[in-house]
Amino acid sequence: MNVHAPLAPCKSEAEFAIDQDWAGYSADGHRVWSTLYERQCDLLAPRACDAFLKGLGALDLNSGGIPEFAAINPKLESLTGWRVIAVPGLIPDAAFFDLLAHRRFPAARFIRDPRALDYLSEPDIFHDVFGHVPMLTDPVFADYMQAYGEGGLRALGLDHLRHLARLYWYTVEFGLMRSASGLKIYGAGIASSAAETVFALEDPSPNRIAFDMLRVMRTRYRIDDFQQSYFVIPSLDALLEATLQDFAPVYATLEAAHDLAPDAVTPGDEVLTRGTQAYAGAKGAAAQ
Ligand code: PHE
Ligand code: FE
Repeated sequence: MNVHAPLAPCKSEAEFAIDQDWAGYSADGHRVWSTLYERQCDLLAPRACDAFLKGLGALDLNSGGIPEFAAINPKLESLTGWRVIAVPGLIPDAAFFDLLAHRRFPAARFIRDPRALDYLSEPDIFHDVFGHVPMLTDPVFADYMQAYGEGGLRALGLDHLRHLARLYWYTVEFGLMRSASGLKIYGAGIASSAAETVFALEDPSPNRIAFDMLRVMRTRYRIDDFQQSYFVIPSLDALLEATLQDFAPVYATLEAAHDLAPDAVTPGDEVLTRGTQAYAGAKGAAAQ
């Protein structure tokens, strides 16, 4: 795509975008950002995929604490035509997809409480911007996210959002990728969490399974704790390629398939690591 073409107007932006009000952040807020930024940079240097690290380097996200979207956007736009816009918390699914389809990434403006750096009841600006935006500087991932937005609008119409949402979860949020130097992180949910950055790659508990579209769309996920399975793509090109097919027949196939549990391992899986599930097991036991 021609990234220098002016962005098409987007109805959902007009409806949901708010001012980031950057001047309104407190010194505490900026300190939280810088603390999290430095911690994650150290953890991710050996663990994130090249595209993420390259994007992080290109964006300069820590020069004055919490970054200003107006400063990020010229760089991001010149690289891939994407922009970050502030939105008030959760927005309707259709608006979310419409924004992605128009290369706008909706981000929260609030930052988590300094007394609970690792707890989030909903995504904050650190998750949304530090976690997601570096990957949006990669041309292939940028195309994937736009295509996902278009696919989301379609899935809404076909009543298959449940299936498509799992694709987002296990790629955009919790995806791992192969590289010449072992498995690497590209998912924002992992990259924005110190504990999950280590857990996803190094803990013996979770399964690590080669990515397969239908398999992923059948797999339920956990929103309240570390994942019990991570899916590993061979490359971003392969991910984009696998999703360009028409999903209508894929959804039809899924009608007849039952869901899989978050920790399931099936005979068709190419299992890279068979998890012990010790972490999830211990949590389950503690909850009883
Ligand atoms: N190809 C999908 C469809 O036909 C759209 C899509 C593309 C979904 C990329 C996710 C990611 O609906
Ligand atoms: Fe996210």
